[in-house]
Amino acid sequence: MPREWRYCPWCFKAASGTVCEEPECNRASMRTSEDVVPSEARPFHGLVVDWRYRVTKYVFTGGYGAVCWAYDRFTDRMVAVKFLCKEPTAVVSDRVRQRFEREATILGRLRHQNIVRLHDVEGIRDGPPCIIMELLRGSDLEITLQNRGRLTPTEAIQWLLPVCDALQYAHGQGVLHLDIKPSNIFRHQNPSGDEVVKVLDFGIARIRGGDLPQGQGVVRVYGTAQYIAPEVATGQRPAEASDLYSLGAVLYECLCGQPPFDGADDFEVRQAHVENAVPPLPEDFGVPQDLVALVFCLLEKKAGRRPRSAREVRHRLAQILSRLQRVDGSQPKPPPTDTNIVRVHQTPTPTGVTEATHAPQTRWRRLKVFPLLGAFIVGLLAGIAIARADACGVRIAGENLRQTTPGIVCASNGCDRTTSLP
Ligand SMILES: Nc1ncnc2c1ncn2[C@@H]1O[C@H](COP(=O)(O)OP(=O)(O)O)[C@@H](O)[C@H]1O
Ligand SMILES: [Mg+2]
Repeated sequence: MPREWRYCPWCFKAASGTVCEEPECNRASMRTSEDVVPSEARPFHGLVVDWRYRVTKYVFTGGYGAVCWAYDRFTDRMVAVKFLCKEPTAVVSDRVRQRFEREATILGRLRHQNIVRLHDVEGIRDGPPCIIMELLRGSDLEITLQNRGRLTPTEAIQWLLPVCDALQYAHGQGVLHLDIKPSNIFRHQNPSGDEVVKVLDFGIARIRGGDLPQGQGVVRVYGTAQYIAPEVATGQRPAEASDLYSLGAVLYECLCGQPPFDGADDFEVRQAHVENAVPPLPEDFGVPQDLVALVFCLLEKKAGRRPRSAREVRHRLAQILSRLQRVDGSQPKPPPTDTNIVRVHQTPTPTGVTEATHAPQTRWRRLKVFPLLGAFIVGLLAGIAIARADACGVRIAGENLRQTTPGIVCASNGCDRTTSLP
C-alpha cells in the first residue's frame, strides 16, 4: 500500500517524523515529498550517491530498481538516477551488473536529440549501481495512452516520427534497441517550453552482431511480449527490422488503444506474434488507408517484408502527416464564438451580420453629416485666422501644423495669439 513519505530539505534523509533525526540538523522540519512513495522506492528516498547526487523524488519502480529525481550539487542541476537494484545495499547479481554495464556503455556512445542523454555512471566498484541521466520532464507514451485511450493519426505520427529519427541514428551506430514500447518513449518539455520526444531504456539493447552468442541457432528471448518481433520471440538473431516491428506494434496501439496481440501470459502473446494475423483496425476509428498499410507492413511476420529502414518509415510517416495537415488546414474552421462581437466593435461592413448593419439608415445619414459640418467650421476658422494674420503680418508655423493640434501662431512682437485648428 503506497504511503506518504517525508524528507529533510537539508540532508535529504528520509524519515517519517516531523523533525529530521540527524544529529547535525535535528531542527529542520521535514518536507512532504511531492509523491506518494511506494514502499519499494522508500530505500532510495533521501539517499546521497557518491556524496554528490541527493535523491529527492521517486518516479518509477521498474523490474530492476527505481528511477528517481536527484539534485547534483556539483553542477547545481536536477538529474535522473536509474538504480539497477531494489535496495541501495542489495547484492547485485552478475547478470544485472552486466545489463547495467551494457546499458551504460551503449547509452554513452549515443548522442542524439531524440535519445536520453547519459551523464554519469556510479556503483561500478561499490555502492548501488546506477546510471545518471538528463532529467526528462513530461510524460511517457504509456501514461499518455492510459489517460487518452488512443491518439488521433496526427498525434500518433507526431509521437513516432522522432522515434524513427532515434532508431535511424542508433541503427547507424550499430545499436539495436530491442525494447521499443510506449513506456520507453518520453515526451520531454525543456525549460524553454519546447517539447521533444526521446527514446530511453537501452537496458536490453545490443550492438549489432556484437555480444550475442555466436554460432548458436537459438539465443535467449528478451523484450516485452506485447511488442516483440516474431523472429525475436522464436529466439532468432534480432536485427534492425525487429525494432521496426516493435515500432509497428506501438503505432497500432496508439491508433487503436491496445497492442495488436493479447493473451493469458507472455508465452501466449509471443505465440500470437508468430502465428496470428494482425487484427484489423476498427474502421470507425478513421485511420487513413495509407497509415493502415504502413502499420501492417511494419507488422509483417517476415523481417524481409517490412520497410527497409527507420529512414523509410520516417519518410512514409512524414508524407502521411503532411497530407493529413493539408486536409485539416483546408477544412473550414468553425468561427470563434465571439467573432460577431469583435466585428461590431471593429469597422462594420455592409455585408457583416452585425448590429451595425441592422441599424436604421437615418443613423448612417446623421453620421455622414458630421464630417461635412466639421469641414465647414475648419474652413471658417481658417478664413478668420488668415484674415487676422494678414492684419498683423503673421507666418504659418510649419512645426505646429505637424503636431496633433495644429495651429496658426502670430509671430509679431507682442502678439502671442494662437488659433488652434479644430
Ligand atoms: N531520464 C529520465 N527522466 C525522467 N523519467 C525517466 C527517465 N528515465 C526513465 N524515466 C521514467 O522511468 C520509467 C522507467 O525507466 P526505464 O529506463 O524504462 O527503466 P526500466 O528498465 O525499469 O523499464 C520510464 O518509463 C520513464 O517514465
Ligand atoms: Mg523501460
